[in-house]
Amino acid sequence: MKKALITGVTGQDGSYLSEFLLEKEYEVHGIIRRSSVDRRERIAHLEGHPHFHLHYGDMMDSMSLMAIVSSVRPDEIYNLAAQSHVQVSFEVPEFTADIDAVGVLRILEAVRISGLGDTCKIYQASTSELFGKVEEIPQRETTPFHPYSPYAVAKQYGYWIVKEYREAYNMYCCSGILFNHESERRGETFVTRKITLAAARIAQEKQDKLILGNLSSKRDWGYAKDYVECMWLMLQQKTPDDFVIATGEQHTVREFCELAFRYAGIQLKFVGEGVKETAIDKKTGKTVIEVSPDFYRPTDVVDLLGDPGKAKSLLGWNPTKTSFEKLVKIMVEYDMDQVSVEK
Ligand code: NAP
Ligand code: GDD
Repeated sequence: MKKALITGVTGQDGSYLSEFLLEKEYEVHGIIRRSSVDRRERIAHLEGHPHFHLHYGDMMDSMSLMAIVSSVRPDEIYNLAAQSHVQVSFEVPEFTADIDAVGVLRILEAVRISGLGDTCKIYQASTSELFGKVEEIPQRETTPFHPYSPYAVAKQYGYWIVKEYREAYNMYCCSGILFNHESERRGETFVTRKITLAAARIAQEKQDKLILGNLSSKRDWGYAKDYVECMWLMLQQKTPDDFVIATGEQHTVREFCELAFRYAGIQLKFVGEGVKETAIDKKTGKTVIEVSPDFYRPTDVVDLLGDPGKAKSLLGWNPTKTSFEKLVKIMVEYDMDQVSVEK
């Protein structure tokens, strides 16, 4: 039985990856942090599974990482743990760098020092944010990086230190340059989930308005459940390599709103521009979306579109398994149910 260790197991991707690997009959070990409130809701259904084990640790605590890596002796490590919110990284840049940059180094060193450098394969959760202020459209593996937030700069260190360990120590480690991927398990402050939850609450008269930032920002949004398969596929190749994972389709935040509200039963009409832009419910004439500069970023990445060609041909991965429309529908239907039982 193969052993996998997942950092960030309580996150959106960690939960889907755990399910995926358990189905492939892996023994799955996850690292969790102590918290005064329960952060395990995404993996609660897996606890008690005979092949699912949790360990306390932290990406800022080398000793805990060393202890876990040397006792579990995993065949594969999926390093998903991160302070993953771009806007928050402007407020806590040092904390973000510690986890998202130095944390990657701590994992690599834990593997090397434990003598697992020749056997343990490592997946690093890299990101399309590396392309940031994009220098080419669409972005592919050869597109130059231009990170545009403290989060992206930290992730850039992670990307290069993984490449360095591959070349210096011949370790099997690779970066998945994943574009935005969403789901019904997405954190509630990322724009897609913020929109689907608000659309459900407004449709059920439990919220009046949704306040957003840049509506014109463009993203290449995929379904998280499809993307975790790529993480595993990357570690099954003969030689380690980095891959862009994306759908190859782009939409604005405004388009996401239109579709999400439509699935919730509300037809939107956008009027005005910039901070004055609003969206009204065509039926009632009520304003349901407003813009606030509070959600603007000091530097914002506004034109992400990935080219999944390499993943398609070398990993045999299907980037269009779940369409944009289907993704939005899944999220809205889930949130309509959730909201219906909210007080
Ligand atoms: P997420 O839902 O925010 O999950 C992040 C995970 O990291 C959580 O389990 C969190 O634990 C854990 N974590 C944070 N700080 C930690 C620390 N100091 N020590 C140990 N664990 C810590 O993120 P996600 O969407 O699943 O993304 C997974 C990874 O992919 C992240 O590295 C993210 O940057 C990267 N990524 C995501 C996307 C995307 O669109 N989702 C795209 C590209 C790259 P708690 O639950 O305890 O907070
Ligand atoms: N969060 C948020 N909240 N974003 C908003 C809002 C709002 O109210 N209004 C507009 N946006 C815009 C942001 O300015 C950004 O351009 C876009 O919506 C997407 O924002 P997020 O959903 O927060 O995601 P992200 O693209 O910044 O980061 C996510 O994807 C990256 C991959 O490209 C995260 O998952 C990162 O961890 C990941 O690396």
